[in-house]
Amino acid sequence: MVRSDFGHDFQWGVSSAAFQTEGVCDADGKGPSIWDTFAGKKGKIKYNHRAHTACDFYNRYQTDIALIKEMHIPNFRFSLSWPRILPEGTGRFNAQGMDFYERLVDHCLAQGITPWITLYHWDLPQALQDKGGWTNRDVLGWLEAYAERVVRRLGDRVRHWMVLNEPAVFTGAGYFFGVHAPGLTGLRNFFPAAHHAALAMGHIGRLLRAETKNARIGSTFSCSSIHAASSRRRDVDAAKRADALINRLFIEPILGMGYPTADLKALAGIERYMMAGDETQLPFDFDFIGIQNYTREVIRHSYFVPYLQARLVPAKKRHVPLVTEMGWEVYPEAIYEMIKQFNAYPNIPDIYITENGAAFADVVEGGAVHDRLRIQYLKDHLAQVLRAKREGLNIHGYFIWTLTDNFEWAEGYHPRFGLVHVDFETQQRTMKDSGKWYGSFLANSIFAE
Ligand code: NOJ
Repeated sequence: MVRSDFGHDFQWGVSSAAFQTEGVCDADGKGPSIWDTFAGKKGKIKYNHRAHTACDFYNRYQTDIALIKEMHIPNFRFSLSWPRILPEGTGRFNAQGMDFYERLVDHCLAQGITPWITLYHWDLPQALQDKGGWTNRDVLGWLEAYAERVVRRLGDRVRHWMVLNEPAVFTGAGYFFGVHAPGLTGLRNFFPAAHHAALAMGHIGRLLRAETKNARIGSTFSCSSIHAASSRRRDVDAAKRADALINRLFIEPILGMGYPTADLKALAGIERYMMAGDETQLPFDFDFIGIQNYTREVIRHSYFVPYLQARLVPAKKRHVPLVTEMGWEVYPEAIYEMIKQFNAYPNIPDIYITENGAAFADVVEGGAVHDRLRIQYLKDHLAQVLRAKREGLNIHGYFIWTLTDNFEWAEGYHPRFGLVHVDFETQQRTMKDSGKWYGSFLANSIFAE
C-alpha cells in the first residue's frame, strides 16, 4: 500500500482541537468555556486533570507546525476556541484571541500546510451555558455572530470549514449522560440540545457559504459500525435502534430525511422542540462531510435501558484480541463499513475521514517511542479506506487523530493518541515511530508492502 494508490487528489491530514491542546485557558483575554468549568469540578475528569496548560499549543504552535511539516502532512485540521474570540460568547470581542488564529492560519499557509477549521469543538463559552447553552434555541444566533466574525476575518485565506464536531457526542455525553461538559442529564436537556445542534449545521453552513467564495463547507460526525450481539430477532432490532441513535440522528436531517424516528420511536420527543419551518431549515447541501471512526459497537437487547432497550457489550467482555487505552476494540473493518453506510445515502456529499487513530500506552525509551501497535492500527485502517476507494465509494481524504498527545476530555491526559509524544511536565515533544511512519508514507512510501 502506497500513498499513490489513493490517487493524487486524495487529501491527507492530521486533526486536533483547541481545548485539548492550546492551554493558556485564562489569559490573553480568553473567557472560560464549559470545559474549564467542568474540569474544575472534583471527580469529573480522571485524576482530576485540568487543561490549563495542555500542550501549550497557544505558545508552541510554530514548533508543532514544524512537526507537521517534518511528517509531510499537507492538511491540518484544528478548531477555534469561541471564548478566546468572544469571552462572554456574544458581544465583547477579544482581538488578542482572533489575532492568535490569524497568526496560526498565516503560519500554516507560509509553511505550505492547508488549514481546515472546525468552528465548534465542544468548548462553549460558559456565559452562554449560564443561559442554557445548547438547550436554548438562542444558541443559533450566538453561533451565527461568532461564525460571522471568524469567517469575515479568515474567509479570504481559509478554504475548508467544518461547523460542528461530533454533535452526537457533545449532546449525548454533555446533555444526556452528563459525563462531558456541561454535565447535564436526561431527555429534557438532550432533545433540545440535539435539535438545536442539528439546526445549527445548516444555519451556519448557509452563513459560511454566503460569506465565502470557493470554500468547501462541511461538518463532522462520529460513527461506529453496529453489530448485533447475536442473530436473534431482539438483538438485531436493538442494533437497529442503536444505529439510529449513534450513526443516523444528525446526518439524516441534514440530508432532508428528518430524524430517524421510524427506527427509534423515542426520538419523536425531539419534535416537541421543532418550530414551524424547521423541517425546511434542517437540510443543507454541504460540500463534504467528515466521518470520524475508531471502532465498532456490539449491541444486545436490554429491558433495563429505557427507550433504547439496547446496550453496548463492552469490548473487554467480548474477549477481543486487542483493545486500546480507551477500552475500544481494534476492528479496522469498521471504517470501511461506515464509509459504505454513509456512501449509501443517495445525496451524500464528498466523504472525508476527519478522525481515526488510537490511544496506546506509549513510553519514551532512549529518545524514541516504539508504538508498533499504533502503526499497525493505522495501516490496517488505511487498507480498509483503500478497499472502499477501490470499490468506487465516495471517499476523498484521511486525517489522523491526532498530532500530539493531548487532553482527552473526561479521560484526562492518560490516553495518548498523538503521532508525537508530549511529556506534560516539560512540554518536550518526541516524534513516535508512527509519526515517522506517516511521514515516510506521505513522502515516498518506503514502508510499501
Ligand atoms: C473524537 C473527538 O472529536 C476528539 O476530540 C477526541 O479526542 C477523539 N475523538 C478521541 O476520543
